[in-house]
Order: sequence, then C-alpha cells, then structure tokens
Amino acid sequence: MEDLDILEKKILSCKNIEEIEKIRIDIFGKKGVLAGEFIKLATLSAEEKKDFAQGLNTAKERLQTSFDSHYANLKKALLEEKLKSEKIDMSLYGGVSNKGALHPVAETMDKIIEYFVALNFSVENGPMVEDDFHNFEALNLPKHHPARDMQDTFYFGDSKLLRTHTSPVQIRKMLSSKPPIRMIAPGSVFRRDYDLTHTPMFHQVEGLVVEDKGEVSFANLKSILTDFLQHMFGSVEVRFRPSFFPFTEPSAEADISCIFCGGDGCRVCSHTGWLEVLGCGIVDPNVFKAVEYENVSGYAFGLGVERFAMLLHKIPDLRSLFEGDIRLLEQFR
Ligand code: DAH
Repeated sequence: MEDLDILEKKILSCKNIEEIEKIRIDIFGKKGVLAGEFIKLATLSAEEKKDFAQGLNTAKERLQTSFDSHYANLKKALLEEKLKSEKIDMSLYGGVSNKGALHPVAETMDKIIEYFVALNFSVENGPMVEDDFHNFEALNLPKHHPARDMQDTFYFGDSKLLRTHTSPVQIRKMLSSKPPIRMIAPGSVFRRDYDLTHTPMFHQVEGLVVEDKGEVSFANLKSILTDFLQHMFGSVEVRFRPSFFPFTEPSAEADISCIFCGGDGCRVCSHTGWLEVLGCGIVDPNVFKAVEYENVSGYAFGLGVERFAMLLHKIPDLRSLFEGDIRLLEQFR
C-alpha cells in the first residue's frame, strides 16, 4: 500500500503532459511497475496468487482512475493556456493598411472637370459607339478627310464606329438644346494606334461655348484657356499657335512653356522650350449649319487627359498608365 501511495503521488505531482506521459510508461508500460508485479504472480502458490492478483487489480484500477483524472486536468489546462495565448483582440489596432488612390488619369480628369464646373460649364456625355454623322460629317470632316482613314478609326460593319474624339458630344448637345451653351464633354476615345505616346483608348475633354447674344471672340478663348492652363500647370507661359482643325476657323494649338526645363530647351520639349497641350478655335460656320444654329458664335477646345497627366506627373511612357503595374500606381497614393 505504501508503494501505491507513492505511485499515486507521482501521478498527481505531474505538472504537464510530457511528465505524465513518462509516468504512464513507468507505471503502465510493458516494462513498468505493474507489469513487474504481474510477473511476480507466476512465482506464487495458488493460494497466494488469488489474494495477490486481487490486490494488484484493485491497485491498478486506483492508479488508472487517478491517472485518467489527472491526465484530463492537465489536458484541459494545456488547452486553456493555448486558447489564452492564441486569443485575438479584434478591437486592437492592426497597423497601417494599404490605402487606395485615384489613378493619375482619373485624378487629372477630376481636376479638369472641377475647374470648368466652377466656371458654370455643364458636363455632357455621349455614346462611345458613334455614327459617321456625329463623329465626322457634322464636324465638317468631309468624306475624303484623312481622319476617317481605316488606319485611325475602329469601324463596325454597320457604319458605326468607336468615336475618335469627344467632339461629337458638342454636336449632340447642340442638336438637343438651344444656345447659349457652356459645356465640357469628358470621356474615352479610340484610335488604332500603339506606341510611346499613343494607346488605342485614351481620354479627352472637349469644351464648347456658344452665345446667341453678342459675339464670342478669340480673346475670350485665349483668356479662359490661359487661366485654365496656369491653374493646371502653375506659373507657365501660354502661347497660341495657328493650326488647322476642320471644325474650327480660325484654329490654334496652345503651348505651355516647358515645365521640365522652364523654357530653356530639353529632350521632352524637343529643344523648343514649349509643350503642345491642346487644340482650339472659333467654331466653323459649317458646324453650326449642320446643327441648324443661326446667328450664333462660339469657341471650342479639346485636350488629351493622358498628356496632361504625363506632364503633371513626369511619366515618360503613356502605355504605363494602362498596364496596372502596382509599382507605378503606388507612387500616386
Ligand atoms: N477633336 C480634336 C482631336 O481629337 C481636338 C480638338 C481640337 C477639339 C480643336 C476642338 C478643337 O474642339 O477646337 O484632336
């Protein structure tokens, strides 16, 4: 009985699963204490055997019961400890997470729209799948005009096409409402082109102002665009260079002094000191004729949003704006 008390104490004093597993082998194992006692049975007489075996079985049962209950306690304690250490406090601060940001084209687009909305321009939309009339004909782009070339325009079979510019929205606006008009039309446009400075899809903002009382002048156009470009690019010089567009007469292209070299001449401005940023002009009378507007005058302008974004953020390759490379986008957070 003394031995039994000692063994039982040994079991109950185990502080963890490893310790009690060792005791299990010592007591209940093949070469353990109990197995040793059972071997002794063989050396006893029949008479002694009965008592000894009975005592041994009682002892075994007692040890097993103590073992099982202490083993269960230790297991429970182990689980509790594990639960405690693995507990997650959902209210704890999780550190800085990745923040999203506007794509530079979207951000530039927003900035342009905001500027003109503040000047009371309406924001107009038109379909991306256009027809020949709105995209070309009404804009005084006659049938043989090179802009209609299959090289530049995505045509569908049924005389529909993907708009090559946002200018058709001015036609739609004039056909659906009366002057005066002050509008911009932001949106995607499509051309069959792909290189360092061209992608098949890009974004433009078209602007149109039409007055039926009094006449708009080229001076009005120059003043509004000069303010706009200085708002976008900071303190740059703005100049207007005579140019040609079928839908405006006279037409001009606006340049800003090079924001990379300050006008001294560098690779970006091809050593001219100037960067071309938009097209504009006084609306050609043929355009007004196409929408049956009489006794009105107006000016229009059109710009490429990607070009603005590239200049503002000094991005050298237009195509990188559409590749979705996280390393580029992360820089605009
Ligand atoms: N639609 C022209 C283009 O895609 C841009 C443009 C130039 C629009 C002059 C205008 C304008 O309204 O007056 O290149």
